[in-house]
Amino acid sequence: MSSRDLLRSFVLALLVVSAPVLVQGQEVVPAERLAVREAFREARFGMFIHWGVYSMLGQGEWVMHNRDIQVPAYEALASSFNPIRFNAREWVALAKAAGARYITITSRHHDGFSMFASKASDYNIVDWTPFKRDPLKELADECRREGIKLFFYYSQLDWRRPDYYPRGRTGNGTGRPDAGDWNSYLDFMDRQLEELLTGYGPLGGIWFDGMWDKPQAPWRLDKTYALIHRLQPSALIVANHHQLPLPGEDVQVFEQDLPGANTAGFNTKEIGTLPLETCLTMNRSWGFNITDRNFKTTRELIGYLARAAGADANLLLNVGPRPDGTIQPEAVERLREIGKWLQVNGESIYGTRGGPITPRAWGVTTRRGSTVYVHVLDWPDRALTIPSWGARVTSARMLATGEKVGVTEVEGGIALALPPAKPDDLDRVVVLETVRE
Ligand code: GLC
Repeated sequence: MSSRDLLRSFVLALLVVSAPVLVQGQEVVPAERLAVREAFREARFGMFIHWGVYSMLGQGEWVMHNRDIQVPAYEALASSFNPIRFNAREWVALAKAAGARYITITSRHHDGFSMFASKASDYNIVDWTPFKRDPLKELADECRREGIKLFFYYSQLDWRRPDYYPRGRTGNGTGRPDAGDWNSYLDFMDRQLEELLTGYGPLGGIWFDGMWDKPQAPWRLDKTYALIHRLQPSALIVANHHQLPLPGEDVQVFEQDLPGANTAGFNTKEIGTLPLETCLTMNRSWGFNITDRNFKTTRELIGYLARAAGADANLLLNVGPRPDGTIQPEAVERLREIGKWLQVNGESIYGTRGGPITPRAWGVTTRRGSTVYVHVLDWPDRALTIPSWGARVTSARMLATGEKVGVTEVEGGIALALPPAKPDDLDRVVVLETVRE
């Protein structure tokens, strides 16, 4: 080989290694981010945190809009926010005990208050409150120490700034003038995103919300997304706009619904090819709500986690910390119970993909390679017949106990002889080893 040929094959090899490998329509996604998408999928379980000034009123994060709180009154409220019991260590330890692999936290919600040190606006927790600490920095440092990925939720909608104008469907009763420079608002958001992407170490990504407030507005997404990709090429863009993902985005989100369902009334039923994430409240509120006692049971929450995995989606389960910075005991208890369950049953969730059988009323399947996990969530009987899918089952056992499970081929499927259902069963998981027929 001549030295010229050698050089040519070297350059070629370099190109192969560094070239973006997926072309989605017009979009070219660098290999680096494709790998991060896969890792995101494998994580399967994250903890969502909605926390801000609104926690002081204990009526959820929409209180400013719901009660038409005027901007000066909300600003005065913000100036007394002092969550002295906030402890990043405790939050991250709780997320880990729950088995969550990542945390997504509100850096700025629709009320427009920044929960981080921002030079782009003094309406932030460090400059505006007696607390003076940057909880997101403390959290980012702790997450890095503990190997938890951190995502920042960022609201594109703002109920305080006059330059969020023309206004959208919400926040019209907070007393703002009927004029404002939309481009200055977009510039402000980009400045803040730059702060978040340069001041907190490598992030899991940015989780956008609020575009649905005025879907037709010129959001300048291409510029903002390019900024994010330039500052942190491995950060994912997750967007909760209730549509199929747009160019530049990495994850499709479903809010309060499993993929394909639309009980919430605003989700799309279309499922694309990107990683999926379902975000879910533990009661019915995202931000701390002092009267919302509608906590889902641990059994229901594990059901959601399994059903999300069965639908090939991550579950992002929310907590709404209190104004002092602590997390309600009801949430702590449930998270710990989920973590206990995952310690035994984690292999049927983490690193799996949606299984060969589409979700059923009785439960779902997940799979890793030729191993299939049958999650029996809602089935009182011992015999369960599942449809066949072109593989032969070579062995079957209960994941938690190792107990053998009888398998009989029947017309159109296989019958599993499960151990008796106990009233406190959270999810009877059967492990099937299979070979292709
Ligand atoms: C909705 C709500 C918001 C919440 C989000 C979480 O978009 O407006 O308050 O943060 O859902 O998914």
